[in-house]
Amino acid sequence: MSKTKEWEEIPTNEPDRQRYFINEDRKLLMLKEADLGRKLTFHVTTFGCQMNARDSEKLRGILEEIGYIPSESEDCDLVIYNTCTVRENADNRVYGRLGILHGYKKKNPGMKIAVCGCMIQEEHVVNRIRESYRFVDLLFGTHNVYQLAELLHESFMKEGMTIHVLDKAEKIVEDLPQVRTYPFKAGVNIMYGCNNFCSYCIVPYVRGRERSRTPQAILREIEKQVEDGVVEVMLLGQNVNSYGKGLENPISFAELLLEIDKIPGLERIRFMTSHPKDLSQELIDAIAKSKHVCHHIHLPLQSGSSRLLKDMNRHYDKEAYLDLVRRIREAIPDVALTTDIIVGYPGETDEDFEETMDVVKQVGFDSAFTFEYSRRSGTPAATRPDQVAQEVVTERFNRLLKQVQEDGRNRAKALEGQTRTVLVEEVNREDDSLVSGRMENNSVVHFKGTSDLIGKIVPVHLTSCKGFYYLGEIAN
Ligand code: SAH
Ligand code: SF4
Ligand code: F3S
Repeated sequence: MSKTKEWEEIPTNEPDRQRYFINEDRKLLMLKEADLGRKLTFHVTTFGCQMNARDSEKLRGILEEIGYIPSESEDCDLVIYNTCTVRENADNRVYGRLGILHGYKKKNPGMKIAVCGCMIQEEHVVNRIRESYRFVDLLFGTHNVYQLAELLHESFMKEGMTIHVLDKAEKIVEDLPQVRTYPFKAGVNIMYGCNNFCSYCIVPYVRGRERSRTPQAILREIEKQVEDGVVEVMLLGQNVNSYGKGLENPISFAELLLEIDKIPGLERIRFMTSHPKDLSQELIDAIAKSKHVCHHIHLPLQSGSSRLLKDMNRHYDKEAYLDLVRRIREAIPDVALTTDIIVGYPGETDEDFEETMDVVKQVGFDSAFTFEYSRRSGTPAATRPDQVAQEVVTERFNRLLKQVQEDGRNRAKALEGQTRTVLVEEVNREDDSLVSGRMENNSVVHFKGTSDLIGKIVPVHLTSCKGFYYLGEIAN
């Protein structure tokens, strides 16, 4: 625990203000511990993307600093749901699970339940929770994760639900405690928000406008992580290719990557997500010439139909996407390409869908996330009258899934017999004589080994491909 400092009055500047509240919360917690004769426990459950996973590390860091002990189970003293609202089923899962938390709270009336993240940026969600889930203690959004200690303090001091949602980000607050899920790999936000307003997507409404962190802050964070044992970083942003545009001293993502590439001790650099419209030749060349950037690009296609891409506000067409893929493969022949595809976007005809199938077949993705279009209220596509019938969507979805799985298997099979470097992540959960790790293209490999290999990068001979993962042997 860091040294505690005493303040005469509540600081107005950050992060001092939050450090003040961490202190205050710690005092409150100690009183509760004395009362109960035990430590208090917490659990943070993350839904959605890596941005949320990263925010959850910040939430955990603050809670541990306050003195809460992590609990494996949600049956504990404080549960935070960090939510996602990108598709409707993400919302439904949260509502369902809140019911279960209510059961725990009936047994443990001192329990606190907080819901934060992307769902809470939507007014209809806040209203629904306020009216129908009154046992929830605290709601906050995506722009004030850093205020957890202050909000928790308010919730301890007053009756009823504490609700604090900001319409937009007021500042980027750095230097608060955080815990890393893995000691050897870390997510690093390089930017927040999104300016693209793809017609189907809720993210720009719940994450706000694009804001880049300065290269100095990013480099300093990664250097500290490397000193601490990190060998792989994942640079995070909704569209990393537009990194740096709003900064006082603008810098491109390619330039940032090459700076990060020079950090001694850092072995692997990943990034996501790349919007095809902004993926420059400069970036392709930077990846090709860098020493540590993984040869893996996640390049969401969304649709192969130029007509739909225009309607989606994606700013590229089928030909431009295929040309980009061609240029990437020319410069980086062993690149792994993965993608996201939406099926059943409003107005999608059989011809449009065939265009998607055509791009998928031409590219041969290493893997693809396929999604049924989900109507998100507030987005332009949601009010369209020409929504596609569910049976049609299901049929198309199944065909697409079959194709991407077949391509994935073929691409994976082609590496059988080769030797690749693997970052060992854990002892295999089913067979403890094996360890599991990831290759540069993100595929999983299991091979004989012991826990001392965790966090190390080792060469592994890929003896057999089992569809989407490999069995291997360490190569000497
Ligand atoms: N910023 C990233 C995507 C973030 S959301 C990008 O632009 O590529 C992750 C994926 O969810 C998207 O790529 C898209 O395929 C999917 N998605 C977003 N909104 C959706 C919706 N309304 N219905 C179905 N899938 C959606
Ligand atoms: Fe959503 Fe488009 Fe922004 Fe990605 S780029 S987060 S799909 S609006
Ligand atoms: Fe979901 Fe929010 Fe990420 S809506 S996909 S958690 S940015």
